[in-house]
Amino acid sequence: MKILGIETSCDETAVAIVDDSRKIHANLVLSQLEEHSVFGGVVPEIAARAHMDHLDKLIKGALNDSGLTFSDLDGVAATSGPGLIGGVMVGMMAGKAIAAAHSLPFMGINHLEAHALTPRLSDDVAFPFLLLLVSGGHTQILLVRGVNDYELWGTTIDDALGECFDKSAKLMGLPFPGGPNLEKAARQCEDLEAALKRFPLPTPMKGRKGCDFSFSGLKTAVRTHIDALPAGALKMEDVAALSAAFEHSVCETVISRCKNALEKFTTIHNGPERPALVVAGGVAANTSLRGALKNLTESYEMSFIAPPISLCSDNGAMIAWAGVERLRLGMTDTLDIAARPRWPLDPNGDKNRAAFA
Ligand code: KG4
Ligand code: ZN
Repeated sequence: MKILGIETSCDETAVAIVDDSRKIHANLVLSQLEEHSVFGGVVPEIAARAHMDHLDKLIKGALNDSGLTFSDLDGVAATSGPGLIGGVMVGMMAGKAIAAAHSLPFMGINHLEAHALTPRLSDDVAFPFLLLLVSGGHTQILLVRGVNDYELWGTTIDDALGECFDKSAKLMGLPFPGGPNLEKAARQCEDLEAALKRFPLPTPMKGRKGCDFSFSGLKTAVRTHIDALPAGALKMEDVAALSAAFEHSVCETVISRCKNALEKFTTIHNGPERPALVVAGGVAANTSLRGALKNLTESYEMSFIAPPISLCSDNGAMIAWAGVERLRLGMTDTLDIAARPRWPLDPNGDKNRAAFA
């Protein structure tokens, strides 16, 4: 079973072909970094136009790379939300047109479900598992019971973690996208102890019940430190120290929230397999965070799964794989399925979060 996957919900135009034996036949990602970097963030109209300009040739490229033709495909999957609606519509229309023209089943994919199911493509992880989803738009802890079966245990009550990275990096004068550049800067800090003394930062929600997150206070604290520095361009050593202190606070906070989730998970999980904590989304590329999560899982006798970075950030393979998972279960969509700018994975999320806390 070979599925074409199309991702256009943010600033990456991505197309892939994946089959049900977990083979990735093609995986092309075109980042729009240059188009958006002058604005310091993603501009929805520019993103939608760029998807329109590039999608056709990426689809052609994926077929060329794989040596396949449309007639070799068994289905088409395209992100149908959540995300920037203009871009989502571009990808969906292209996917629906291919499905209609070649009489193939169409699957409208929830972008978050695609992130959630990626560890089954990369590492064949069994259900149920615990998912920490950390991207530019989302910060969630979910129990993944199966395809289309999610329980939300925690979410951010304000900024997403990737957003907090990006905004803090911008305050420090680091180029867009902030997350990876802040990580690079933090690596240049030679004395973490001194950095933590010089730039004390809050660890929001640490020690509180439940799994919710909050990051706006952390970003404000970064601003306060920067405002207290001498006027003018920040020195690289200051940026490095502040970045290291920032990453330290992020790890402390995320670990505190995940610890509560792991404790609950171990009480409800009675399967024979060693269960997994999976991290997904663009921020999963962060090395310090990966290290901290790995340490945490070891003390709970759980496995820690972090898919390769190319599959953690937005890509077409995760959409194609979600299509494989859904088509195997007969979960196809009619061509009148609409794009959804908001689309929670767990419709009872608020109730489940409240019950947890
Ligand atoms: O999942 P993703 O590619 O796109 C969505 O938001 O859906 O995530 C992008 C986010 C951005 O906020 C980016 O700054 C962050 O992931 N990110 C990182 C790193 N690489 C990407 N944050 C921290 N450290 C990184 N190495
Ligand atoms: Zn994403």
